[in-house]
Amino acid sequence: MSGAAALIPAWPAEDIWQQIEPLLPGFSVEVLASVDSTSSELMRRARGGRTEPTLLVAETQTAGRGRLGRQWKSAGVYEGTGVVPALTFSLGLPLAPQGWSGLSLAVGVTVAECLDGTGAEPRIRLKWPNDLWLAGDRKLGGILVETASFATGPQTAEQPRYVVVGIGLNVLPVLAEGLSTPPACLREVDTSLSAARALKRLALPLVQALLGFAEHGFAPFQPRFARRDVLAGRGVTLSNGQQGTAHGVSDEGALLVHTATGMQAITSAEISVRPQ
Ligand code: BTN
Repeated sequence: MSGAAALIPAWPAEDIWQQIEPLLPGFSVEVLASVDSTSSELMRRARGGRTEPTLLVAETQTAGRGRLGRQWKSAGVYEGTGVVPALTFSLGLPLAPQGWSGLSLAVGVTVAECLDGTGAEPRIRLKWPNDLWLAGDRKLGGILVETASFATGPQTAEQPRYVVVGIGLNVLPVLAEGLSTPPACLREVDTSLSAARALKRLALPLVQALLGFAEHGFAPFQPRFARRDVLAGRGVTLSNGQQGTAHGVSDEGALLVHTATGMQAITSAEISVRPQ
């Protein structure tokens, strides 16, 4: 299959289920033609007591969400053609890591490594804490990590929470109009990628990465993040007004920024950062 035909997804739900079910008993894969947001849907289900491991894909999202309450806009299925120009999905599962910091970075490393091919120089770069970028500081996609408690009684650090990892990736070119960061798309990285093929490549490594993170934390991902860190060595401006130079991320996933008042470790989920 090639060209436009390849872009009309035959979603590989059965293959993905067979790969993942042995790792996550009770796992299911669902593909929806349209939903407000795959992450909102899994969070609603978790709050209603449905905490089975689930991969939820939407061909169109009507209210996609990004970090810091931002909208995530991606074109829905091209009407009348069936072509899906963006991959939007969420993976939800119970997880009990020692700590949650660095999880979106670990997911970013996994997505970038899966989709980048084998070239010596990484093309897909990571912008702390949740963006995937291509050359020219252009956004290829984003990651949204949310958790919900589902245990009754007093909460302890070790109790599992239901984590929902939402991923949005532009597959085909996107109009830059109205976007704060210019867009990029997966077709620039690999002309053979469709939304369905990208999902097939990502699903199992993503589950393995989440299980690995639960066991070992962010530390094993840190050098892999460093290879792709788009901010390292660059002047940056933080949304709290501070400026400085980015010095990579700590083994817990904090962004290290050297400012006039010394080295700061930025962990706050409320702070965003821009290269100058
Ligand atoms: C960001 O760039 O701030 C994160 C974007 C995350 C978008 C994905 S698309 C699938 C899932 N559903 C959502 O509503 N958001 C995530």
